[in-house]
Amino acid sequence: MQVVKYMFQPHGDDRGQLVALEEFKDIPFRVKRFYYMYDTIPEVVRGKHAHRNLEQILICIHGSCKVRLDNGKEKKEVSLEKPYEGLYIPGSMWREMYDFSEDAVLVVLASELYDEADYIRDYQEFLRFVEESEK
Ligand code: TYD
Repeated sequence: MQVVKYMFQPHGDDRGQLVALEEFKDIPFRVKRFYYMYDTIPEVVRGKHAHRNLEQILICIHGSCKVRLDNGKEKKEVSLEKPYEGLYIPGSMWREMYDFSEDAVLVVLASELYDEADYIRDYQEFLRFVEESEK
């Protein structure tokens, strides 16, 4: 299972850093939605779902968190600790975000508008979905 983590190029100068992301250049899809999580309780595990089609990029622009990815066959854990790191999550991937630092701000860029019908919130159903997709 390949984990795609982008290292975005900060435009640093003597004033500080700036990261700019353009769709189809730095981000491999059209960005239709942007949301973020903050004030996350450190013991909390968020996510715990998959999407049928949605593509996302997760960027912990402040603080740090971890992400567990699971394609139904393999699991990988990824740390997001720098504001220039972006984790790409394709469709059909179970994800859990955890170990949030108190100051964590996790930004998500998404390829589609919010659609509850695209969510798979039951892990067994996710495994069935993966099996069906392979037929
Ligand atoms: P939720 O799906 O529980 O977040 P996560 O699974 O990533 O931890 O979302 C929390 C609430 O926010 C829920 O009521 C749905 C709402 N929501 C939106 O209205 N739009 C969105 O784009 C997202 C991601 C969530």
